[in-house]
Amino acid sequence: MEALICNQIGDPTLPISDTSPISFSRSHPIPSLNSPTAIRIRIKATSLNYANYLQILGKYQEKPSLPFIPGSDYSGVVESVGTGVSKFKIGDRVCSVASLGSFAEFIIADEKDLFLVPDGCDLVAAGALPVAFGTSHVALVHRAQLGSGQVLLVLGAAGGVGVSAVQIGKVCGAIVIAVARGAEKVQFLESLGIDHVVDLSKGSIIESVKGFLKARNLKGVDVLYDPVGGKLTKESMKLLNWGANILVIGFASGDVPVIPANIALVKNWTVHGLYWGSYTIHQPHVLYDSMKELFSWLVRGLITIHISHAYSLSQASLAFSAIKERKAIGKVMITFEDHETIKSKL
Ligand SMILES: NC(=O)c1ccc[n+]([C@@H]2O[C@H](COP(=O)([O-])OP(=O)(O)OC[C@H]3O[C@@H](n4cnc5c(N)ncnc54)[C@H](OP(=O)(O)O)[C@@H]3O)[C@@H](O)[C@H]2O)c1
Repeated sequence: MEALICNQIGDPTLPISDTSPISFSRSHPIPSLNSPTAIRIRIKATSLNYANYLQILGKYQEKPSLPFIPGSDYSGVVESVGTGVSKFKIGDRVCSVASLGSFAEFIIADEKDLFLVPDGCDLVAAGALPVAFGTSHVALVHRAQLGSGQVLLVLGAAGGVGVSAVQIGKVCGAIVIAVARGAEKVQFLESLGIDHVVDLSKGSIIESVKGFLKARNLKGVDVLYDPVGGKLTKESMKLLNWGANILVIGFASGDVPVIPANIALVKNWTVHGLYWGSYTIHQPHVLYDSMKELFSWLVRGLITIHISHAYSLSQASLAFSAIKERKAIGKVMITFEDHETIKSKL
């Protein structure tokens, strides 16, 4: 089968060769069913998350031993089932998230970890749903309990998790402020009907957000969704209301911010560290309920999955470059079979 293999820690944007950190194989062994409840899935699409990029660079919190097949969330079709499988059959459309291994043509999953993709949901789009939309849904709905009329500020709003957060914010009835850099990203976010979009290439977040809040007679921000960190977090804290929720999602800027405990005390802020993947171990029912609600929203058209770049597995270095160079608007995908068709639709 086709598989991408990380042989050494390094830059995955380097052209794929025998000596580059990642190599591409057309003859990797197809994985075998390893338990009665195991299922083999033929992968249709797998999404690139910032974490996949960080992991190959050796900068992610989870450091697998080498060599490994990277990749986390994916969608596909059930190809083979173990003798004890009761919930799925061959031909079912499914999606899931793995700790590793989705950058390949086939993957093995236990049936308890799979979600059935409902009719009416595009299978490629379903491969982008778990990590990005799952993270934002658990953060905003389960942790911050975002309510109608509250003000939500989303940093890195045109990226993978950002685009999901702004949409989920709108579904919750929040007043959504999105922060991104550059005309193309701003135009895209405006097309989603976001209440206010800050273009960082044109000026400061503070001035732009304060102007919007004043014009709408609003006091400040109730929920901060932060996948970026660094200076932007520091500035955003100046915009928060008493009793605000801060959702610490990631550090795309490379800079882990400091949230002063004395200010959190005086302002009654709640700081949520959120690692979505760890819910699979500690509270899987939360993920299950979250995915169920997300699928119902997707079917009803309340959320949409925007794919700005799609590549074949052999072009993975280009996919990583799109992430590294901040070109992604929504999701970057690796697709099997018809990636050219998907690309022509972009
Ligand atoms: N906690 C969790 O469970 C969880 C789950 C998923 C993702 N994450 C984390 O969330 C972060 C974003 O992930 P993603 O998949 O949304 O990534 P992404 O699609 O690459 O988006 C990241 C966004 O961050 C902004 N950014 C600001 N400074 C940047 C820099 N120096 N380099 C790159 N981007 C920068 C970019 O926006 P502009 O160009 O518009 O400024 C970009 O759109 C990552 O740190 C990831 O690990 C965490």
